[in-house]
Amino acid sequence: MTEIIDGNAVAAEIRDGLGDAIATLKAEGVTPGLATVLMSDDPASETYVSMKQRDCEEVGIDGIHVELDPDAPAAELYDTVADLNDDDAVHGILVQMPLVDQVDTRRVLRSVAPEKDVDGFHPENVGRLVAGNARYKPCTPHGIQKLFEHYDVETEGAEAVVVGRSDIVGKPMANLLVQKAPFGNATTTVCHSRTADLAAHTREADIVVAAAGVPGFIDGSMLKAGATVIDVGINRVDADTEKGYELVGDVDYESAKEVAGKITPVPGGVGPMTRAMLLWNTVKAAGERAG
Ligand code: GUN
Repeated sequence: MTEIIDGNAVAAEIRDGLGDAIATLKAEGVTPGLATVLMSDDPASETYVSMKQRDCEEVGIDGIHVELDPDAPAAELYDTVADLNDDDAVHGILVQMPLVDQVDTRRVLRSVAPEKDVDGFHPENVGRLVAGNARYKPCTPHGIQKLFEHYDVETEGAEAVVVGRSDIVGKPMANLLVQKAPFGNATTTVCHSRTADLAAHTREADIVVAAAGVPGFIDGSMLKAGATVIDVGINRVDADTEKGYELVGDVDYESAKEVAGKITPVPGGVGPMTRAMLLWNTVKAAGERAG
């Protein structure tokens, strides 16, 4: 029987644990604060940011939301980040990606104070992660590690294939999987849009992490029997629903679940874990400031 990995349930457990840590911090006079910054009119980004703010409220983190006009000059964003860096009530800063064209994204990533960079995207934090000394693990790969932990997915000695090479998911996921650390020690291959024969790789994999952003990119015929399949994709495809679209992953769920040993659904798999780990990193940031 294929086990369906319930990201909502694991994320709820993590939020409960964080609630206790937040209560302790508050008793010490520190209320964790997370600033989210949106400079985009992408409806998906707007939804993600509002969900992150709702999560903060639920667990007792102070949410500060800054929304900038997508047509504003880039300097407004740079100034906003500088102000948040200086604000002692803000422990974590998340600038929602992707940003509008007039903004230099690398400059923004560099400008977030590394100790407030709860996304783990600052070059210093990327370097630390690669060196095996992460300050903040990026939220999606970190959440996937938590799913491995909860569902007893053995990474040690496993063949892992990461499909997608983004800075947000693919690269940090591969880095964590190869490290000599819990939920690492996997023989890790990174595939991407230019991989000559994707199925040849995925068919050998004990663990497949699909993060290519292409609906239905991986189907059951491309998987090894019993593999753990983690679907990071959240793709909007036109559908005859109230909203006019539905969310689908990078994995063709119906065919894949016939072959996989464990599989994440979309929605309800990785998405809630990403959000939970953002709260986790924010609490860690506040804890470090509290000493
Ligand atoms: N856009 C998509 N995923 C993420 C994320 O994890 N963090 C930020 N800042 N932007 C994103």
